[in-house]
Amino acid sequence: MPGPGAYLVGDAERKEVEDVLSSGYLSRYGKVGDKRFKQKVVTLENRFASIMGTEYALVVNGGTGAIMASLVGLGVGPGVEVLVPGYTFVASITAVIAVGGIPILTEIDKSLTMDPDDIEKKISNRTRVIMPVHMLGNPGNLTKIMEIAKKHKLLVLEDCCQSLGASYQGKMTGSIGDIGAFSLNINKTITSGDGGVVITNNKEFYERAFGFHDQGHKPLRMGVEIGKRSLIGINLRMNELTAAFALGQLTRLDEILKTLRQKKKLFKDIIKNGSIKNMEFRKINDPGECATLLTVIFKDGKTAEKAASALNSKTVSKSGWHVYNNMEQLLNYVNSDGKKLYRKHMLPRTDDILSRTINLSIGVVDPGLGADFGVNILSAKEEVKNRANEFVKIVRSIVD
Ligand SMILES: Cc1ncc(COP(=O)(O)O)c(C=O)c1O
Repeated sequence: MPGPGAYLVGDAERKEVEDVLSSGYLSRYGKVGDKRFKQKVVTLENRFASIMGTEYALVVNGGTGAIMASLVGLGVGPGVEVLVPGYTFVASITAVIAVGGIPILTEIDKSLTMDPDDIEKKISNRTRVIMPVHMLGNPGNLTKIMEIAKKHKLLVLEDCCQSLGASYQGKMTGSIGDIGAFSLNINKTITSGDGGVVITNNKEFYERAFGFHDQGHKPLRMGVEIGKRSLIGINLRMNELTAAFALGQLTRLDEILKTLRQKKKLFKDIIKNGSIKNMEFRKINDPGECATLLTVIFKDGKTAEKAASALNSKTVSKSGWHVYNNMEQLLNYVNSDGKKLYRKHMLPRTDDILSRTINLSIGVVDPGLGADFGVNILSAKEEVKNRANEFVKIVRSIVD
């Protein structure tokens, strides 16, 4: 059930991968003077930094690894609290636990991203980081989040795993906070099967993230030899073959975003003109969103349930993957003091919104997001129109 990039694999990816196969260099580290060594990981890092407009980019093995490296980059460790919304992929939350930190869950608002009004209620003297998640390609309310972070001297980690290519007030998501983390897994805007990227303008954060991703070494393993490594790291490295594939996909990014935005506009306009009562679209915080999904919110859960079932789909509450209530591994988690920190329905506003919400696919076709109904990036104009008209007909018969 892939994202748009996975529908579009072809010559661009093949050529890049063949380059690596004929070079004999598979690791990100090779003999720099050797012309056969194509340095795909480093090239991907440079391209990413240039597209995002940041000083540094670090390519890693996945979005979860990118979040972990970012957290360590920002100095998160044992006992440090990180604010994370209750509607996200489980990895945003568990990555914090994996580096020893404590995730504190916040509510979402009708943009389906972190509710800025809930942030200050959740800040304690142990809080160091706010992690907005740009869910379903929609940037969080970064104006307010950055304001609050500044006021309380906190750092901001943007989880951009679902927002590769999105911008907020003219800047790419991931480049606005202190550090940004991306995923290249199969459901994302572009993919390399698995993969991740960290971006930042801060040298210290970059160096720490790099060290965490590669056994404590300084960037490119240069200048830090045995005896000088200052940080405990693990191995989150990406290899040359994966980076080559990602470079091929990156050439498609602009076209993917343009196509998704056109399809979403057509789909949304038809639904808008259908004048369905008691239903609204989720709040989009910036027109630079990715347009991977279209999200509708009904006046109550009962109506949403009926509509979802008529569409052969599910409400977001019941979609499984991204709702804290459905993360049994989190609900069963016991910390080192023997305490359970998370319980079902601890976020009533989030529960209310998600019980009334249905996702429709535009480019990410993922029943795990509750997006069983919709189109994909290859759907022709007629198919998009037909699907949108079908939605109007089905849902009107329920709400009228
Ligand atoms: C919001 C969010 N954060 C983190 C991740 C983790 O990314 P990965 O699967 O590449 O580890 C995902 C992936 O689904 C995600 O959607």
